[in-house]
Amino acid sequence: MQQRISPASALTGSITLPGDKSISHRYAMIASLAEGDTRIVNYSTGADCHSTLECMRVLGIEIEGQGTEFVIHGKGLDGLRAATRDLDAGNSGSTIRMLSGILAGQTFRSRIFGDESLSRRPMQRIMKPLAEMGAHIRARDDKFPPLEIEGAKLHPIDYALPVPSAQVKTCVLLAGLFAEGETTVTETVRSRDHTEIALREFGADLRVTRQKITLTGRPKLTGRELVVPSDLSSAAFFLVAALLVPGSLLSIHGVGLNPTRSALLDFLCGMGAKIQIPELESVNGELVGEIQVQHSVVRGGVIEGGLAAALIDEIPVLAVLGAASEEGLTVKGAAELRVKETDRIRTVVDNLRRLGVEAEELPDGMAIPGRQKFRAAEFDSFGDHRIAMAFAVAALRADGESVIHGAEAASVSFPEFWNTLARCY
Ligand code: S3P
Repeated sequence: MQQRISPASALTGSITLPGDKSISHRYAMIASLAEGDTRIVNYSTGADCHSTLECMRVLGIEIEGQGTEFVIHGKGLDGLRAATRDLDAGNSGSTIRMLSGILAGQTFRSRIFGDESLSRRPMQRIMKPLAEMGAHIRARDDKFPPLEIEGAKLHPIDYALPVPSAQVKTCVLLAGLFAEGETTVTETVRSRDHTEIALREFGADLRVTRQKITLTGRPKLTGRELVVPSDLSSAAFFLVAALLVPGSLLSIHGVGLNPTRSALLDFLCGMGAKIQIPELESVNGELVGEIQVQHSVVRGGVIEGGLAAALIDEIPVLAVLGAASEEGLTVKGAAELRVKETDRIRTVVDNLRRLGVEAEELPDGMAIPGRQKFRAAEFDSFGDHRIAMAFAVAALRADGESVIHGAEAASVSFPEFWNTLARCY
């Protein structure tokens, strides 16, 4: 599918965005292991989160509902049944990595696979800790999906994450649910903590210090009512769009502002972005608020170290902003970008060059000078949702109509993206 994007004169109005992808995955998986019903409101409409729902169904969980509201009839920690077919994680790294932690603790064997992009993503990062816990996992070339997971009686471990990754942390904690005793994960760079918050909401016993998360195994989890906040990583496209286009003033409602995700707002405000949060509340342990954003001339900056991990999903769209900023953007220490849905260092730099923008590819990041003009272009999503949306945002500032090829990729996290964008200008 192609999308044509014409330059915008201003983005205005009030928008709501789909439910948070990270939180939706976690709620669906943990609700399946809880006793009783969980009603989830504002569940993500993205294909990734629907891959998770479908996997849980194949594992014997009854799930009712449609659109954004689902009731998951949880069957308790020992309630999953052997899948009658292979589990399809689609494009979703979160589904395969997090669900593998659950599959490792079962009494049956499972096979989980994904699409072409997922089949190239590294799985050793979860295979290693799960093997330490006693699981038996086979992978293509010992590192790629499909994974064959022989369920086993797991034992608890104390695991230090070698790469900052919330998916790996979650995988170990979900496996820890099935291990008698205390499972600990140590992280030197704090990653998103939705799993910790959700497990507590469902009744698990979890202790968190600055670097360690300790979970007591075999908890009784209880079904409950949950509302998913809107996805800050989806909001990022609209924040950058409004910052880039003169005359813009946008409000985005009910956005998840968990401090382990909101480095984006601090980074933007630090560069001079006019962003306000007039309301903030706590919903199911997650901070949620309204964001107001206004066109601003931003300075640019450097993303490296812990900040690179905290902004990892937002870097494609921040690269676009960086090219229009006063001083440009440098990203370093972000080699993880190379193993996302696409090699996002390469796909971002490729599309920036189509835009007529100078950009240097670094082994672990990119360097983009500021004050650059955007030329109308034909962009390629390369099948990556965040690349499709980032360059749609760039096209708003171009000097004519642009085309995004492979625009359907946006559906992985945000099927309504094109309609929502069209409503803003
Ligand atoms: C996610 C964690 C991040 C992020 C991904 C979602 C999660 O991946 O890029 O989009 O929900 O835990 P890593 O754990 O690989 O850093």
